[in-house]
Order: sequence, then C-alpha cells, then structure tokens
Amino acid sequence: MSLLALPLAALCQPKCGAPTPADVEGPFYKAGAPVRASLAEPSSPAETMVLTGVVLSAECRPLANVSLDFWHADAQGAYDNAGYRYRGIVTTDALGRYRLETNLPPPYSGRPRHIHVKVQRVGAPPLTTQLYFPGESRDAPRALVLKMERHAEGRAATFDFVLP
Ligand SMILES: [Fe+2]
Repeated sequence: MSLLALPLAALCQPKCGAPTPADVEGPFYKAGAPVRASLAEPSSPAETMVLTGVVLSAECRPLANVSLDFWHADAQGAYDNAGYRYRGIVTTDALGRYRLETNLPPPYSGRPRHIHVKVQRVGAPPLTTQLYFPGESRDAPRALVLKMERHAEGRAATFDFVLP
C-alpha cells in the first residue's frame, strides 16, 4: 500500500501502538491492596512468574508514578475476597518500568487464564483491563496477550501499557 493510501491517523500513530484496550473488571476487584513487589507464595503448587514492562503515554513517553493494581485467582481458581492474597499494587519508576512477581494463575470456570489490573495515572481515570496468556485462547483480545518466555526457574512475562 502506498503511503498516500494510509489514513492520516495511521501515519501519525506512534510506534508504541494504540492505547491498551479496557476489559471487564469482573466481580472480584477489592480496593486497598497492599503495595508490594511480590504476590508469590512459596507454598503454592503454581509456577513462579515475573511480569515486567513499561507504561507509556500515547506519545510513547514513559510514565513514572503510575500505579498498577493487580489481582488474580489462586491455584484453585479462587479469589481472596476476605484478605489480599494475590492482590497487590506496584508503581512505575522514573523510566516507566514496573515489575511484579507472582504465581501463575490457572484457567477457571471456563475462562482463559488471565490477570486483572487497574492502571492508574495520577489525575486520570484508571484503565481497567485483563492480561491473557499466549496460545491459550482464541477469545482473548490480541492486544491484551502477554509475551511469555519459560525459564527453568519459572516464567518471564512482559506487557507494555499505552495510556490515552
Ligand atoms: Fe478473573
């Protein structure tokens, strides 16, 4: 396709891509999760997983001090609605980077494996969405699928968020 045939918006689209789409919150969000870099439990039968990435503006600039409020199911597919197991908040550093360690959640109740997150930039409404795992579901929105590598010590996942 010639450049002239592209809509203007496509030519202006920064390299980091379109804003990360929202996805349903689901019934199990609970405010007030602790700030902590690891949700992993040594007694869990599930693999350890480290999720890293950056949060970018629509102009592809890294955003510092963005909070990412994660929650997901435990190895039995249950959410902790009494306490804060597998719930925690991490914040981006000066380069927009975040890092979360946890245990791999399972698929449950007919849903593909996923991790919920609210991404909150100071002074802006939160982006509520879900992250999905590669090669596990045709129903998962492509723009919300993690990149995943397997290592002997666990899985290394990456996902970059783009906020509007
Ligand atoms: Fe869920």
